[in-house]
Amino acid sequence: MYNIFIYPVLPFRSMNIVTTVIKSRHSVRKFKPDPVGDLVIDDALECAAHAPTAMNIQPWLFGVIRNKSVLSAIAGLTDHGKFIAECPLCFAVFGEKNQKYYLEDCCAATENLILALQAHGISSCWVAGEKKPYSEAVRNLLGVPPGYTLVSLVAAGSPAEIAITPKKEMKHLAFFEHFKTE
Ligand SMILES: Cc1cc2nc3c(=O)[nH]c(=O)nc-3n(C[C@H](O)[C@H](O)[C@H](O)COP(=O)(O)O)c2cc1C
Repeated sequence: MYNIFIYPVLPFRSMNIVTTVIKSRHSVRKFKPDPVGDLVIDDALECAAHAPTAMNIQPWLFGVIRNKSVLSAIAGLTDHGKFIAECPLCFAVFGEKNQKYYLEDCCAATENLILALQAHGISSCWVAGEKKPYSEAVRNLLGVPPGYTLVSLVAAGSPAEIAITPKKEMKHLAFFEHFKTE
C-alpha cells in the first residue's frame, strides 16, 4: 500500500509510520520522468487542506502543474528552482493575502503536502515563493486572482537522486522547562 524509502530511515529507532515518513524526507531536485498518479496527487492535496489554520479560515489555493511548457516557464522565473523544468509535477500554494495568518497557514499546508507525497514514495523540494521577486509573475502565469499571493512551489516526482543533508544536534536545539547556556 505505502511505498516508503526504508534506506534513509535505518539509522532511526522510530517504528511509527508517520515519524518514519517525516524522518525519511529529504529535498530532491532530480526526478525520474514518470508521471505521478492522480490518486497520489488527490491524497496529497487533501492532506494539504487538512493542515491547521488560524480560526479555521483555510486561506489557500493549490495549483497542480504537469504541463511541460508551464513547468519550464515557472522554472525560468525562479532563481533557485530551475530544476522545476525537469520534474513531472509542481504544486503552487497560494495564500489569501488579506488574511493575517496566511503565511503560517500555507506553510503548514505545504509541509503536509510534502509529507503526504513522501508517504506515497514521491519525493519533492520546497521552492520559495513568498518574498521572491517572481511571485507575482508566477501568479499571473497561472491566472490566479490578485487577492492571492504565491507562498511556495513544490517540485515533485519519483527521485532520481537523493542527497541527505546534515541536521543540527538536538542537544543544541531543544530545552526543557528553562533555557540555560552551557
Ligand atoms: C521556505 C523554504 C524555501 C526553500 N526554497 C528553496 C529553493 O528556492 N530552492 C531549493 O533548491 N530549495 C529550497 N528549499 C529547500 C531547502 O534548501 C532544504 O529544505 C534544506 O536545504 C534542508 O534540506 P532537506 O529538505 O533535505 O532537509 C526551501 C525550503 C524552505 C523551507
